[in-house]
Amino acid sequence: MLNMLALALVVVIITVAVVPHQTLSATTPKQALPGCKSTCGNVQIPYPFGIGNSSTPGHRPCFLDRKFKLTCDGSILYYGNVRVSNISFLSHQIDLLASFASLCHQQNGSELPKSYHLRTGSFSISSNENKLLTVGSDSYGYVNSYFNGESYSTGCLTSSHGNTKRIKNGTCSGIGCCQVDIPPGMRNITLRARVFHNSTLDWGNCSYSFVVKNGFYNFSTTDIQSFPHKKIPLVLDWTVGNKSCDDSNSKGNEACKWNSYCDDKDTDFGYRCRCKDGYEGNPYLGCTDIDECKTDNHTCISEQNCVNTIGSHTCFCPKGLSGNGTKEEGCHKRDVVPKVVIGVGAAIVILFVGTTSLYLIYQKRKLVKLREKYFQQNGGSILLQQLSTSENSSRITQIFTEEELKKATNNFDESLIIGSGGFGTVFKGYLADNRVVAVKKSKIVDESQKEQFINEVIVLSQINHRNVVKLLGCCLEREVPLLVYEFVNNGTLYDFIHTERKVNNETWKTHLRIAAESAGALSYLHSAASIPIIHRDVKTANILLDNTYTAKVSDFGASRLVPIDQTEIATMVQGTFGYLDPEYMRTSQLTEKSDVYSFGVVLVELLTGEKPYSFGKPEEKRSLTNHFLSCLKEDRLFDIVQIGIVNEENKKEIMEVAILAAKCLRLNGEERPSMKEVAMELEGIRIMEKHPWINTDQNVEETQHLLHEASSSIYELGDSSSHQYAGYDSIRDHVLIALDDGR
Ligand SMILES: *[C@@H]1O[C@H](CO)[C@@H](O)[C@H](O)[C@H]1NC(C)=O
Ligand SMILES: *[C@@H]1O[C@H](CO)[C@@H](O)[C@H](O)[C@H]1NC(C)=O
Ligand SMILES: *[C@@H]1O[C@H](CO)[C@@H](O)[C@H](O)[C@H]1NC(C)=O
Ligand SMILES: *[C@@H]1O[C@H](CO)[C@@H](O)[C@H](O)[C@H]1NC(C)=O
Ligand SMILES: *[C@@H]1O[C@H](CO)[C@@H](O)[C@H](O)[C@H]1NC(C)=O
Ligand SMILES: *[C@@H]1O[C@H](CO)[C@@H](O)[C@H](O)[C@H]1NC(C)=O
Ligand SMILES: *[C@@H]1O[C@H](CO)[C@@H](O)[C@H](O)[C@H]1NC(C)=O
Ligand SMILES: *[C@@H]1O[C@H](CO)[C@@H](O)[C@H](O)[C@H]1NC(C)=O
Ligand SMILES: *[C@@H]1O[C@H](CO)[C@@H](O)[C@H](O)[C@H]1NC(C)=O
Ligand SMILES: *[C@@H]1O[C@H](CO)[C@@H](O)[C@H](O)[C@H]1NC(C)=O
Ligand SMILES: *[C@@H]1O[C@H](CO)[C@@H](O)[C@H](O)[C@H]1NC(C)=O
Repeated sequence: MLNMLALALVVVIITVAVVPHQTLSATTPKQALPGCKSTCGNVQIPYPFGIGNSSTPGHRPCFLDRKFKLTCDGSILYYGNVRVSNISFLSHQIDLLASFASLCHQQNGSELPKSYHLRTGSFSISSNENKLLTVGSDSYGYVNSYFNGESYSTGCLTSSHGNTKRIKNGTCSGIGCCQVDIPPGMRNITLRARVFHNSTLDWGNCSYSFVVKNGFYNFSTTDIQSFPHKKIPLVLDWTVGNKSCDDSNSKGNEACKWNSYCDDKDTDFGYRCRCKDGYEGNPYLGCTDIDECKTDNHTCISEQNCVNTIGSHTCFCPKGLSGNGTKEEGCHKRDVVPKVVIGVGAAIVILFVGTTSLYLIYQKRKLVKLREKYFQQNGGSILLQQLSTSENSSRITQIFTEEELKKATNNFDESLIIGSGGFGTVFKGYLADNRVVAVKKSKIVDESQKEQFINEVIVLSQINHRNVVKLLGCCLEREVPLLVYEFVNNGTLYDFIHTERKVNNETWKTHLRIAAESAGALSYLHSAASIPIIHRDVKTANILLDNTYTAKVSDFGASRLVPIDQTEIATMVQGTFGYLDPEYMRTSQLTEKSDVYSFGVVLVELLTGEKPYSFGKPEEKRSLTNHFLSCLKEDRLFDIVQIGIVNEENKKEIMEVAILAAKCLRLNGEERPSMKEVAMELEGIRIMEKHPWINTDQNVEETQHLLHEASSSIYELGDSSSHQYAGYDSIRDHVLIALDDGR
């Protein structure tokens, strides 16, 4: 009963976790009012056009005013009773599928004239986009505009007088087919087609007259007898309101929203809204800033030299180059200074130098002395001595000057900060030789530990492992030493796991590879390096990823070298909450097995996609490791494994990794496997994953059995560890633990 309750709870929690956050796509700006239909069939309906009332409270109409009211019948959009095929708020045009006027002579001599009337409201027939055409052998057609009591007409005639040779297919040349421009401002039109009496009517007895969008109609002589089109596209120009901008503005009923302006040029009725330069979107809903740097439309020599500003963009040149970065001027070396400037400048400089050189010399001496002092204080002479005796001269630490690093990080510009944690702040930097580096400004180093610090620098800089972030060098000329690392560009494993995205079997493969690589790196640090190095702060936030998602273990800020004859050292407890080895917390005895424990937490994080500690969750789920172990104990591993990664093929791998994680999390450090064993095990699982046939004799049931064994051996441990965790909370404030925003 209790079990079922717990299961139900887990299911509820998983369901809650899985509900995707509504992702608002910023790339496609809204075109319709909220709660309004934005398409009908495949036609977009941008505001001010709209259909019916909105579904949001208030149920306001979806259109600006009645003349923008459309209707949608199934998937067909109508303006009045005319079909709409496209609406554009950029060109302020609406494409309709209209009909035509016709007249056909019957054998008995009677005429059946059909005129066509199109009500356009205050929208006008676009005079640029359309023509009036009349098709027939001896005919004429015309269009009449009658709007607000004003009327005018235009038309064309065609007559072949029986001379059929002149009629040509493909062109509306004037014989068989004539065309004429539409005058501006025609609204509310009537079309009529007529045939001359006594005509010869060699090609057919019909005449057709219609307004058509340019380029749509291709004349053919067969059309005179039977017209092939049922509907003919034509284009209307639309405007808003019925007054000019000034009049509308003074009345306060201008429809143009933020970052747009009112335009009544070339309109005889109403006005149009347009986005201001540098903005895009629907001006009737409000325009948004264009990031010009992302488009090809910026004026800079490259995207890297471009900064987007609200409504515009500016160009710049990298530090050390002059110019304004625009295409016309570009960036170049700072060497062309106009002669006048040199003359005036020289005079000022001489004066300035004369009066201030003494002061400067004094200051400089002070600075040099200070730097020298810090250099010595930070163990610079020890480092120099070590370097001169180091036989491996190819990989020695580079000693950077403070100037170099200031230049590289733009004087520790805040915009270049790429991370900050318990042990310092990390800046992105560009060295003069174009290398990109990460510069770490450590927090104050204990005076008594300077020798150890230098030793670390030397040992770490000699480590050359593809899964360890490489230390390139350091700078000792400051009160706080700076460390220079290679730059790893793809964020942390923490972000990779906890950024919401779709997970699948591929994700699991990546997780497994990253786990194996990280384990390999830690195992190397523990055993392969000349002096064992305990990382002390293994966590997903300290595993960086490069652009191929290769793991790079980083942040040895807290790490300690262990002299070979000593496997345990007593230190002040340091680490990150949620990853800390309980044994180490209790005894303050640091061993390599503390890293193994923390790595176990990393494995659980990779399996579950959950954070190691969540203050917001119920007591029993706050600690991920406890929750994981109790799930294992109750044989419910797959309840806690991240949804989406499990499939039939990787079930066994996941179980084996879970067993491994459980072993790493054993309370008694001695019972935990060594990092080397963990790395080998993970490599083994990976090989099995690539070549599933290798291990066919050990089937899933068998693994299940092992899993069960592992979990039952955890039984008591799991219990006591939960007491242990209760202890954590109460001593949280007294022990130095980097909470790192709950990571
Ligand atoms: C839309 O709202 C108006 C009043 O704002 C109302 O007169 C009209 O009937 C409503 N139309 C529909 C389709 O609900
Ligand atoms: C609608 O009109 C816009 C602007 O004139 C054009 O870019 C777009 O291709 C048209 N869409 C269709 C479906 O004709
Ligand atoms: C002319 O012929 C058409 C059919 O061809 C017929 O519908 C119409 O009634 C006739 N008109 C007269 C006046 O005979
Ligand atoms: C549209 O034209 C018809 C006749 O062709 C006329 O009766 C009507 O008043 C006109 N509408 C407007 C708004 O002028
Ligand atoms: C025009 O093309 C049609 C077929 O599309 C053909 O029947 C007709 O004879 C052609 N007329 C001329 C004048 O070429
Ligand atoms: C048309 O022909 C009839 C006789 O066939 C003739 O009476 C009439 O005047 C002609 N009309 C015109 C406009 O040529
Ligand atoms: C056109 O009408 C005349 C009589 O008015 C008839 O002789 C002729 O056959 C008709 N032509 C066609 C193509 O229908
Ligand atoms: C008219 O001809 C052009 C090219 O010759 C063609 O692209 C177009 O589709 C034709 N239009 C129609 C309605 O057939
Ligand atoms: C102009 O529009 C306003 C509100 O939309 C309306 O009250 C007014 O009668 C219109 N004037 C004309 C001349 O159509
Ligand atoms: C590029 O910018 C110019 C001026 O800022 C603007 O007129 C033009 O429409 C823009 N072109 C594109 C494709 O955005
Ligand atoms: C950049 O320099 C060029 C050439 O000196 C000049 O024409 C242009 O106006 C400058 N642009 C800006 C944004 O200062």
